[in-house]
Amino acid sequence: MEDKKYCEEEVINMPLIGDKAPYFEADTTQGKISFPDDFKGKWVILFSHPADFTPVCSTEFMTFASMADEFKELNTELVGLSIDSMHSHIAWLRDLETISWNGIENLKIDFPLIEDISMNVSRKYGMLHGDSSTSTIRAVFVIDDKGIVRTILYYPASTGRNMDEIKRIVIALQKADKDSVATPANWEPGKDVIVPPPSTTPDARDRMEWDDADIDRLAWYLTFKKDK
Ligand code: BEZ
Repeated sequence: MEDKKYCEEEVINMPLIGDKAPYFEADTTQGKISFPDDFKGKWVILFSHPADFTPVCSTEFMTFASMADEFKELNTELVGLSIDSMHSHIAWLRDLETISWNGIENLKIDFPLIEDISMNVSRKYGMLHGDSSTSTIRAVFVIDDKGIVRTILYYPASTGRNMDEIKRIVIALQKADKDSVATPANWEPGKDVIVPPPSTTPDARDRMEWDDADIDRLAWYLTFKKDK
């Protein structure tokens, strides 16, 4: 019986890292959007939250909104989503603009919040987990300027996201693309970056002979260089 139930369930192919972001059209608090087409040439943080008018989501929205200009400086747009009506979205955002919290006040939330009552987008992006069919989990998709999914994060309902970490991920991805490097654990801008490891024995030997003041070689496979 259980097996039959499983077989009859709709199979969702959610996007994975490296996939093209699935296309959708949606109504948002800033009008209709075609995604990712309307964001061509920009990076996007597409994030879902369980519900409007809930405490953790409120702190997340206020924090994201307070950092919107910092994300814009990284050529990055914010797009939120939940399975709530447009009227609920509008009322909640208007409310948040009147609240002061954690040094955040006089907010103006002018990035789009998707109305996904139909669950069209949440289904496409695998934002519905477990038994819940009425609320999205805290998902984050970092999508690059070519519409490719570069990072996927999932958080549980009780844990608010760390927006500084999401910003750090965007900076690290943009750094990796620009300079063909990788970034080590707990990397922050300005700290040394990693030179990709050699892929042949001759290259590994050659690597051991590098003599450059900007290079810090700990092993043939672990070489740092200054972030310039
Ligand atoms: C919140 O955002 O506060 C929240 C949402 C869903 C479940 C629990 C908390």
